[in-house]
Amino acid sequence: MEFVVEPLNGPIGREIVGLDIERDIAPATAEALREAWLEHGVLVFKGIGTSPEVQLRLSRCFGELEPHPIPKFRHPDYPELILLTNQGGSAGPVYDFDGTAICGRIPWHTDLAFTTTPNAGALLHMIRKTDDGGQTGWLDMALAYDELDDAAKAEIEGLEAVYLFRAGLEEMRFNNPGGTRLTPRNDSYPDFPPVVNPLVWTHPETGRKILNVNTLNIERILGMDEDRSDALIERLISHAMQPQFQYIHDWANNDMVLWDNRRTLHRAAGHPVDQIRIVHRTTIKGTVAMGRLLEAEAVA
Ligand code: SIN
Repeated sequence: MEFVVEPLNGPIGREIVGLDIERDIAPATAEALREAWLEHGVLVFKGIGTSPEVQLRLSRCFGELEPHPIPKFRHPDYPELILLTNQGGSAGPVYDFDGTAICGRIPWHTDLAFTTTPNAGALLHMIRKTDDGGQTGWLDMALAYDELDDAAKAEIEGLEAVYLFRAGLEEMRFNNPGGTRLTPRNDSYPDFPPVVNPLVWTHPETGRKILNVNTLNIERILGMDEDRSDALIERLISHAMQPQFQYIHDWANNDMVLWDNRRTLHRAAGHPVDQIRIVHRTTIKGTVAMGRLLEAEAVA
C-alpha cells in the first residue's frame, strides 16, 4: 500500500502518512483512501498540499467536485476551489469577541445543511496560517449517536428538524457564540428556502446512524411546540459537543484535511482580522438527498 494510516492526537480521525500526490494516484490507492475516509470520517494529510493541482487530484479520489453555490466564494482561477481568506478584506462578517476583531468564525455545522442535499465531503488546504487562532475542529456525529442512551434514541427516531440558511452568527438560535458584529449586514445571498431534514439519518454509504443536529442552521423540530423543541435541541447539542467526539486541527502551512460531511460537524475558530489567513477548499458533491423543502409542508 502507498500510505499508512496513523492515529491522531484526538479521539476521531486518522493521519495519512507517506502518500505521494505529486504524481497520478493509482486507482487502487484512490480506492483505499476512499475506504479510509468512510471508515474514519476525517483524514489529515500533513505538509503535502503544495499546489491547487495537487489538492484537486487528491480531492477527485473521493467523488465528483462541485463549485460552491454562492459564486463570490469561488476561486477566480479554479472554480472547483473555494477561496477562504481575509486578504483584501474579509468576505464574511467580523465580530468583536472580548475586545478582539475576529473574522472567519463559523460554529459547528455541516456544509449545505440548508439545502436538501448536503455535500458528501470537503477538503481544506492551508496556504497561509495565522499566528493566533485559525484552528478547525471536527465532531463525529456517528459516535455521538452511538453514545446516546436507548431512551434518547427512541425519543428522536423519526423526528425531523427545520434548517435555515444563516448569514451571520446573530441569527443562530442555539449555541450562539455571542460577539458583537462590527461589519454591516450588507451581503447579498441567494434565497435559500427552508428545508426539513431528519434528526437521525442513515449514512448512504456506511449505513451508520448519524445524529443530524447542526448548531448553525437548526431552527426547530417539526410538529413540536417551541419549548419542547428548544429543550430537546439544547439537550442533543450539549451531548454532541463533548470533547470525546472532537478532533481539533492546529494547522501548519500545506496541511490538508478531508472530512465526511454526512457524518461530521466542523467548526472554524476564526482569527484576528489583522492577520491574513488563506485556505482553499474543494467540495465533494452529495449524491443523496437528505431532506426536502419545507414549503410543501403544513407548518406546525
Ligand atoms: C469551513 O467551514 O469550511 C471553513 C473551515 C476553516 O476555515 O477552518
